[in-house]
Amino acid sequence: MLRIVVCVSGGGTNLQAIIDAVENGIITNAKIGAVISNNANAYALERAKKYGIAGDCISPKQFEDRESFNHAFLEKVNSYEPDLIVLAGFLVVIPGQMIQKYRNQIINIHPSLIPSFCGTGCYGLKVHEKALERGVKVTGATVHFVDEGTDTGPIILQQPVMVEPEDTPEILQRRVMEQAEWKILPQAINLIAHGKVKVVNGKTIIL
Ligand code: GAR
Repeated sequence: MLRIVVCVSGGGTNLQAIIDAVENGIITNAKIGAVISNNANAYALERAKKYGIAGDCISPKQFEDRESFNHAFLEKVNSYEPDLIVLAGFLVVIPGQMIQKYRNQIINIHPSLIPSFCGTGCYGLKVHEKALERGVKVTGATVHFVDEGTDTGPIILQQPVMVEPEDTPEILQRRVMEQAEWKILPQAINLIAHGKVKVVNGKTIIL
């Protein structure tokens, strides 16, 4: 059984999608071992509590420097012995040492079709603001493995979503969540839980 640690910073609707998918059998052979937040007030922690999932908090703000945080964060993650780490709206840069230790065992959900509207500083609502500014007609979401770059790791699943003429960033964000994120993140976890995702030469093969 795949042990998952989910890292969150905010509302946790993607965490909820994972919890629901485990409850209703869309994800099998996997269990959420813990939810780690960098923000003690994240509603995602409330969601975890409601389902009896261990909730934990660690923030760079609690540490003198980044190196101390990185060390403590990795120790905390290690303590849950995860097989898979899911970044579900987690806004902290993942330490290099953690990426090395958990190579192809960390996945991230990003609210655009990578390589559009991604990279440093492009997260959350900003992604949808940029998509509307550019005037794209199709956007979507991407689940990918995490490597040393920002949003550059091997792509696992993508789902397109239409942009509508009257969209605001908030309306588009909600549609991308409903039609793409909440579907492909559980799907990707289920594929991994059943050993169906292989990485070959920096690209994934879905078996
Ligand atoms: C989601 O839209 C997720 O794709 C995005 O943050 C939101 C978190 O919402 N992540 C990024 O932009 C990462 N670059 P949630 O807390 O309700 O799941």
